[in-house]
Amino acid sequence: MLKGKNIVLGVTGGIASYKACEIISSLKKEGANVYVIMTKNATEFITPLTLMTLSKNKVVVDMFEMPDNYEVEHISLAKKGDLFLIAPATANIIGKVANGIADDMLSTTIMATKSKVVFAPAMNDAMYENKIVQDNIRKLKDYGYYFIDPTEGMLACNTKGIGRLEEPKVIVEEIKTLMEVGTL
Ligand SMILES: Cc1cc2nc3c(=O)[nH]c(=O)nc-3n(C[C@H](O)[C@H](O)[C@H](O)COP(=O)(O)O)c2cc1C
Repeated sequence: MLKGKNIVLGVTGGIASYKACEIISSLKKEGANVYVIMTKNATEFITPLTLMTLSKNKVVVDMFEMPDNYEVEHISLAKKGDLFLIAPATANIIGKVANGIADDMLSTTIMATKSKVVFAPAMNDAMYENKIVQDNIRKLKDYGYYFIDPTEGMLACNTKGIGRLEEPKVIVEEIKTLMEVGTL
C-alpha cells in the first residue's frame, strides 16, 4: 500500500531520466505523495517543470535556493520521506553515496535520511560492469541500501548488454513490496 506514503524520488542525469515521468505517474496512481529531487545534471535531460506538473509538488534541485518557509529543506525532506527511490541512479550518485560524499541536494538528503533508500541503476553496460561501480553497489548493499537491478537489452549507446533501467511498473511494484513486507 502506498496510499498516503511520502516517496522522495531522486532523479539523476542519465538517458533514462525521462522514465521518471512514468514512475511518478504510477506512484501517484497508487496514492503516494511524491517529492522530487533532481541533480543539476538531470535537468539537462528532463525539466523540473515536467516533474513538478506530474508530481504536483515543488521540485528541488539547488541546495542553496532560499526555502519557501523556515525549514532546512534537505533535512525536512530527509525526515518526510517514508522511502527514497533513486531512479534512474547514475554511476556517479552510487559512487558518491558509497563514499560519503554529500555535495548537492540529492546526495546530502540521502545522507541525512534514516528511511529506506532504493537505487534503480541505469547506465552503459561497461559502466555497470566496472569493478568500482560493482564495489560501490556491494558496499551500499552491505550498509542496508536496496537495489532494483537493471535489466539486459538494447542500450541507448547502441550496444546490447546489462544496464537498462528496470521497467517503471516493476519498480513501483517492488517499492510496494518493500513498503508492505519490509524487504525486497
Ligand atoms: C547523453 C548522456 C547520457 C548519459 N547517460 C548516463 C547513464 O545512463 N548512466 C550514467 O550513470 N551516466 C550517464 N551519463 C553521464 C552522467 O550524466 C554523468 O556521470 C554525470 O556526472 C551524472 O551526474 P548526476 O549523478 O549528478 O546526475 C550520461 C551522459 C550523457 C551526456
